[in-house]
Amino acid sequence: RQVPPPVNEPVRTYAPDSPERAALKKRLDEMADERADIPLVVGGEEIRTGDLAQAVMPHDHRHVLADYHRARAEDVERAIRAARDARREWGNWSFEDRAAVFLRAAELLSTTWRQTLNAATMLGQSKTAHQAEIDAACELIDFLRFNVHFAQELLAEQPKSDHTMWNQLDYRPLEGFVYAITPFNFTAIAGNLPTSPALMGNTVIWKPAATAMLSAHYVMKLLTEAGLPPGVINFLPGDPVTISNALLSHEDLAGVHFTGSTAVFNSMWETIGRNMGRYRGYPRIVGETGGKDFILAHPSADPAALSVGIVRGGFEYQGQKCSAASRVYVPKSLWPEVKERCVEMMKAIKVGDVRDFRNFMGAVIDRKAFDKISGYLADARDNATIVHGGTADDKTGYFVHPTLVESRHPEYRLLCEEIFGPVVTVSVYDDAKWEQTLSLVDRTSPYALTGAVFARDRAVVTQAMFVLRNAAGNFYVNDKPTGAVVGQQPFGGARARRGRTTRRARSSISCDG
Ligand code: ALA
Repeated sequence: RQVPPPVNEPVRTYAPDSPERAALKKRLDEMADERADIPLVVGGEEIRTGDLAQAVMPHDHRHVLADYHRARAEDVERAIRAARDARREWGNWSFEDRAAVFLRAAELLSTTWRQTLNAATMLGQSKTAHQAEIDAACELIDFLRFNVHFAQELLAEQPKSDHTMWNQLDYRPLEGFVYAITPFNFTAIAGNLPTSPALMGNTVIWKPAATAMLSAHYVMKLLTEAGLPPGVINFLPGDPVTISNALLSHEDLAGVHFTGSTAVFNSMWETIGRNMGRYRGYPRIVGETGGKDFILAHPSADPAALSVGIVRGGFEYQGQKCSAASRVYVPKSLWPEVKERCVEMMKAIKVGDVRDFRNFMGAVIDRKAFDKISGYLADARDNATIVHGGTADDKTGYFVHPTLVESRHPEYRLLCEEIFGPVVTVSVYDDAKWEQTLSLVDRTSPYALTGAVFARDRAVVTQAMFVLRNAAGNFYVNDKPTGAVVGQQPFGGARARRGRTTRRARSSISCDG
């Protein structure tokens, strides 16, 4: 009954004139005209509360893609009851039967649903076809399949028995609901956070990000089509504060599965701490928050590989991956060549509507992100050197052009604070100061999510891996710090916040995914 270890879903290229590009374009056109009406889904029932909000396209913000219904207090209560009612039966399903639902979802996504989820991610989150494909299709398929594989391995582990005693280890669902709060920047994460606890027999209340509502809606529909029983995952769009306050203080809260901003995650811990006496058990809290991810180049680095790492790591998906490279340390000897190469590549980057497949970048997610990033661009104009870019335009969409900044101050704001946009700041160091730069990078890594070192000298690579072992959860060598692949690079941070953060950083931390 074991399923064989999965292989990663192959990435489709959507080459010009290919049938797959034609199919995706057709789905994009249909979906852009549809104006979906997105209900809550509680206990398997669609609920239309009439309290409506709109989802727009970030790259064409006057275009309303969908209206979604927001949960009221009574809907939150209803979701808690639905999760409770579904728990006994779902928890009694065999693991294999539960797994079959998610494997079926992976199969549907790999075939008939692929273009729907890709199109929703492109239109709603402004991902290019390639960025949507590696997220909404491949990574979500991988999560669904690998979760089954990893769970099987876990379930197969049994403690030793001997001739005097039989021992048995069981994994039982938690006694209560799991609250899944998902980010805008990865449809795959939005799909993974509610489904992985459900696979283990838990029931879930899922609050999707307001800025990724369309893709979340289709993930929910896909799961329903795959045979997910009513009440196992309850879909609850709405005001995050109202929903979180009600769920986090409820006695049935058994777990939290979160990806989003550090500030929100911290406040969730505080709420849970304040309510500790209420719960049946200690809620299991799992979260992934911000990043101020680095690329550190040694004088022995290959300038060509380094430049590609900077441009791809910094600007793919508009720098809105929690793993995106946003600060770069380059030795003086390499900087002139690296600067020239980066600027050449950046000149070739097209920014615009993601339905035009020639564009390498779309828009940033919303007005709030646009304003925040524009503020950092203004700061760079006053306090640093803009090497390339530095402009933004919100007339039709929230477009920020890829920007490379150079600063003489190694602890300059833009080298320390999370921006979550296409802005990469470079600090140029004396070649002789490699050791000092290593410890600077460690000291200024408040989140320690991802990082990369570029060097051809192997001893230096070993040294950097040792010194920076707590400065990055995912540490890359001669590669960009983004794009972890399920089953190959397990993903997660090493530190919450440590070292020097400015007053301003403390009050403005806001990061997703
Ligand atoms: N898992 C995503 C990446 O590695 C965030 O880029």
